[in-house]
Amino acid sequence: MSCDEKVDCGRRNLIVATAAAGGVGGLAVAVPFIASMAPSERAKSAGAPVEADISKLEPGQMMIVEWRGKPVWILRRTPEMLASLKKTDDLVSDPHSEKTMQPDYCKNEDRSIKPEYFVVVGICTHLGCSPSEKFKTGAESGVTADWAGGFLCPCHGSTFDLAGRVYKNKPAPDNLVVPPYMYLSDSKILIGEDKKGA
Ligand code: FES
Repeated sequence: MSCDEKVDCGRRNLIVATAAAGGVGGLAVAVPFIASMAPSERAKSAGAPVEADISKLEPGQMMIVEWRGKPVWILRRTPEMLASLKKTDDLVSDPHSEKTMQPDYCKNEDRSIKPEYFVVVGICTHLGCSPSEKFKTGAESGVTADWAGGFLCPCHGSTFDLAGRVYKNKPAPDNLVVPPYMYLSDSKILIGEDKKGA
C-alpha cells in the first residue's frame, strides 16, 4: 500500500511500534514500550487537543499519543541524547529548522519547550511513513558506524536526529513537524493547543 495516505500509514505503524532506548554511547538497554493514550472517539473526530501523562516516562523512553489520527511521539531525552544534537548540527539539512513547521517556542536546537522532552509528529515528511526509533549509537544501531541516535524511515531511508532534524541528502525534504503543545503541569502535556504559550 502506498504511504501517500499519511494518516493510515501512521496508524498502521503506530500499532506495530515498539520503543527501545539506551544511553547514547553507553550501554543500550531495552525498555518497555509505554502504551499510547488513545483519546475518545469524540475527541478524535473533533480534532480536540489530547492530554498526555508523562509522569512514568523514564529517561531514554518514548511514548506515543494519537492526535488527529497521527502518532505524536514524546521522547524523554537523556543528557547524552541532548549532547548528540551538537554532533549532528553539521550533518542535518536544516539545523535551525528555518524551513520546517514548529511553533515559535520550539524554534531552537532542541526543538522543544523543555529540552528533556521532545514532542513531534512521528510521520516522515517525504511520503508519510512512520520512522523507526534508532536510539542505539554506532554500529550497534544498524544504521551507520558513527550513528549518533535518532530515527530511520524504513520506506526510503531518510534519517533524523534526536530533534527530528533530517540528515542531508535524504528523500525527506523537511524536519519532522513539531505540533503545538503546552505543559499543564510538570507531568502533563496538552498536545494540539498552546493558548497559554510555552
Ligand atoms: S516516506 Fe520516509 S523516506 Fe520516504
